[in-house]
Amino acid sequence: MDEPILKAQSLVKEYGGSTGARVLRGVDVSLRRGELAALIGPSGSGKSTLLNILGLLDRQTSGRLQVDGVSTSELDDDELTALRGNAIGFVFQFHHLLSAFTVLENVYMPHYVAVGHVDDAMMARARELLSRVGLADLQRRKASDLSGGQQQRVAIARAFMARPAVVLADEPTGNLDTETADEVFDVFRALNTEEGTALLVVTHDPRLADRCDRIVRIVDGLIVSDETGRSQGPCRACGYGPCLAESCLRSADIPRPLLRP
Ligand SMILES: Nc1ncnc2c1ncn2[C@@H]1O[C@H](COP(=O)(O)OP(=O)(O)O)[C@@H](O)[C@H]1O
Ligand SMILES: [Mg+2]
Repeated sequence: MDEPILKAQSLVKEYGGSTGARVLRGVDVSLRRGELAALIGPSGSGKSTLLNILGLLDRQTSGRLQVDGVSTSELDDDELTALRGNAIGFVFQFHHLLSAFTVLENVYMPHYVAVGHVDDAMMARARELLSRVGLADLQRRKASDLSGGQQQRVAIARAFMARPAVVLADEPTGNLDTETADEVFDVFRALNTEEGTALLVVTHDPRLADRCDRIVRIVDGLIVSDETGRSQGPCRACGYGPCLAESCLRSADIPRPLLRP
């Protein structure tokens, strides 16, 4: 029942063979249904690399990854694609909507491509998701007509379309102003709770990380802290909130939680 939906053990990622950089240096992380976790860390620390491997968009150099009970290292590319389509939703910093298509088409398109047809249930699901992200009235508009925040809501609805077990989001509010980022995050969090999904979100925004159940911190390809049920005390290094400043993340305090107990 409480088995993790996603479980990574000793993940290593090297680019460019043995002479290249070791970007992930043995990452252990797991996610459970209903969980909302932030992944934070300095730029270049391996957040996107980790997300892409967890989301089956890229393969690890070594280490084990289980998604929904399936051990992924034994799967060929077609099987990985099928598992990704069934189990994983993605939201990127740039929404990657198809600008010539309508909002509604954008929500069901990846699912349509995966299964080869659209039925009434699928259309109803897409409409319902659009209404839950507050865009019921805009479903027939071209995606390119929407504001940045609206486009990111469409991308969120699209990510939940196939009822994935896990949604991975790489700086989903990174291009939005503060107020819009908060609204988009609220929508994201509500959908995650209602759908019982596991959501892992990469963010640089301390306010957003602070609203997650759990904060996983990665530095130089290693997870240096993983806090659940955090207290909301200030950063030990600078005294400001749950701080994500690069200077604090780089400080000698890194291996210990920056938050006061
Ligand atoms: N395709 C790639 N080939 C070689 N190096 C890469 C590639 N992708 C990322 N890297 C390197 O891996 C490190 C981590 O990158 P990334 O995962 O994008 O970090 P983050 O998302 O935390 O900013 C960086 O040093 C980056 O230059
Ligand atoms: Mg990144």
